[in-house]
Amino acid sequence: MRFHPRSRNCLACAVGTQLLVVDIITAKTNASNTYTDSSAIRTISSDHTKNISCLDWSDDGAFLVTSSDTLICVYETAHWKPIAMHTPHSKIWSCAFVTSAGAGTNNSGDKLRIMFGEYEAIYVWQGIQNSQPKKAGAPPGTIMGIACSRSGGQTVVATASSQREKNLMLWTI
Ligand SMILES: *[C@@H]1O[C@H](CO)[C@@H](O)[C@H](O)[C@H]1NC(C)=O
Ligand SMILES: *[C@@H]1O[C@H](CO)[C@@H](O)[C@H](O)[C@H]1NC(C)=O
Repeated sequence: MRFHPRSRNCLACAVGTQLLVVDIITAKTNASNTYTDSSAIRTISSDHTKNISCLDWSDDGAFLVTSSDTLICVYETAHWKPIAMHTPHSKIWSCAFVTSAGAGTNNSGDKLRIMFGEYEAIYVWQGIQNSQPKKAGAPPGTIMGIACSRSGGQTVVATASSQREKNLMLWTI
């Protein structure tokens, strides 16, 4: 699960194959009345047939990406509609938005960029709606986690893999 980057009142959670969006204020208010109230929780329909393993918000919270073994899905979060999907070559465990250094707050349209990891491969998916992901590296092992540094003059991506050695690598983009 991940909080909205600009709102502490919004939390996105993956439960099995479902994506849930929790309104924290409503959840707090209703918690005093009943624990079974679900008005604070919105279920977002997705095409995932396998458990969602990873999710990430874009910097401005306007987009969200989810990944499961067999699918990556990108949503615009104003209406929670899927805007792009990709079927990977092999199992995916991790995905993250990667923001260009100096991209500022305008993270819309063609500037969207996502990274995801498979077995011995990381991919960059830029543009999303009009493009296919491109292989960007071949670290050893299965890529279990990806994180992007969003400050400073350079974009740095960290990948964690299941391998015993070289399992934490830093990449500049
Ligand atoms: C998928 O998630 C459910 C719980 O939501 C769990 O019971 C099940 O074992 C998971 N399946 C896999 C393949 O991890
Ligand atoms: C963001 O960038 C897009 C395309 O480059 C542009 O059309 C849009 O007006 C920009 N939005 C803002 C708020 O600057």
